[in-house]
Amino acid sequence: MDVKILEKLELKAPSSFLLIPVLQDKVLENPLVARIDRALRGVIAQLADQESFKAKTGQSLNFNTMGKIGPKRVCFLGLGAVEKLKHETYRRTGGLGADWLRKFRAEDATVVCQVPKGVELTVGDIAGAVVEGLRLGLYRFDKYKSKNDGEPPYEGPGGVSLFCCDARGKVIKGVKATMEAAVRRASTLAKGVITARELVNEIPEVMTPAELAERARKLSSGIKGLSCRILDEKEMAAEKMGAALAVARGSENRPRFIELIYEPPKVPKTDPLFAMIGKGVTFDSGGLNIKTGEAMTTMKMDMSGAAAVISAITIIARLGFPLRCAAVVAAVENMPSGRSYRPDDIIRAMNGTTIEVGNTDAEGRLILADALSWAIHKLGAARVIDLATLTGACVVALGQTTAGIFGNDPEWLATVKQAAAEAGEKCCNLPLDEDMSEDIKSEIADVKNIGATRWGGAITAALFLQKFVKETPWVHLDIAGPAWAEKKRHYEPVGGTGYGVRTLVRLAESLAAKSGE
Ligand code: BES
Ligand code: MN
Ligand code: ZN
Repeated sequence: MDVKILEKLELKAPSSFLLIPVLQDKVLENPLVARIDRALRGVIAQLADQESFKAKTGQSLNFNTMGKIGPKRVCFLGLGAVEKLKHETYRRTGGLGADWLRKFRAEDATVVCQVPKGVELTVGDIAGAVVEGLRLGLYRFDKYKSKNDGEPPYEGPGGVSLFCCDARGKVIKGVKATMEAAVRRASTLAKGVITARELVNEIPEVMTPAELAERARKLSSGIKGLSCRILDEKEMAAEKMGAALAVARGSENRPRFIELIYEPPKVPKTDPLFAMIGKGVTFDSGGLNIKTGEAMTTMKMDMSGAAAVISAITIIARLGFPLRCAAVVAAVENMPSGRSYRPDDIIRAMNGTTIEVGNTDAEGRLILADALSWAIHKLGAARVIDLATLTGACVVALGQTTAGIFGNDPEWLATVKQAAAEAGEKCCNLPLDEDMSEDIKSEIADVKNIGATRWGGAITAALFLQKFVKETPWVHLDIAGPAWAEKKRHYEPVGGTGYGVRTLVRLAESLAAKSGE
């Protein structure tokens, strides 16, 4: 999908679709709508009235122009009230537009990016958000759909033209370069999110730990300053990654440890390193504490954290942010077999901590223990963040659209929260309640991998992780809810959402800006 910027909106120029976002209760007051209304001899006023189109958020009015103007179809997309407009509104509007383009298998589209009066968003913000929403909304995981069964999957429009105008519908001059930069950035980000979705959506038979490592290698190859190292099981054993190896033991698909490091050419090697750690369970059956059938379905998504950090670092490196950073993943499959680790086992993590296994389905925190140790002790990371589909309890607490966020350092936590807010990804603070550390005490080992009660599971999991980071500024994002869309919403089709990529890229950008000060 190519995106170009138009200098002029020609109503005579033929195209398959014209998409126009409009403000609530102000449909005909919009000069562009009025222009189209005139060209169609006043039909729109009637149409909007009959269809009760008020331009509320999510509402749209789509009609065929019967050859009276260039665009074959016009679609007004409701923006809602002007006071409530924000980035996310435009992302969702882009997603809504994508639905219409898909429905009519549009080959091309013109999209209006109009800056309403009195909003703080710039035309670049609006165009960027719309393009992000369009691209993310157009994505489908359809590689396993047969092409000869009915119509082939829709690939999206070949080209999209943006018309950027002010509230009066007049083109905004002198912003072409800014616009192009905004569109390029939005496209890069969307591509990163889609890369993560692809990794998550791939079936678990294919997406084994070895395959995830291979994809990480391919995605990172040929990018300046970005290096990839992969450890196999033997090398992991040599590094004493006893916790990750225990989880991996039951599966035919052997584990891998993935390390991607970005060293920007001009940044001194003495600069502090920022590490992103992702949970990489390519399929979580629960192990010997096997899940129910219902709970097991969708557990191919248990490597969503890994997908996010792998994709994010390639985007960060492509954008060339002047920031030293690393992505670290222990990739395993959690399966029951005669070789599986068991409840009652005691395993030894890389940092020497002994862990009593209370439940083999609490495997995420075990592999993260080793990945965190690696990032902190081997790589000497000064700041870390981990992303993990860690607990069902977090989904019970916050639902499927919001991640749980925990942190041991208020400043670092605030930095991450701000990046998430700016990226339009929702998270909500949960406490690292020290009183609850009692719950993960073990009689016979240093710590236990499940809590003594069934309450506060997201918190006990986070407290477990904290034992492996100690004082290093650390943030933990429990993304068990938002990593996967059970139902389509806005610009997210059913399946992996790519949650976290946008936050991580924004975070790296803000850290790079700070370190450059
Ligand atoms: N991968 C799951 C958590 C999960 C649940 C992710 C639902 C996405 C959706 C994790 O490994 C797990 O099984 N957690 C257990 C922990 C329990 C055994 C302490 C859980 O949440 O039930
Ligand atoms: Mn599990
Ligand atoms: Zn899991």
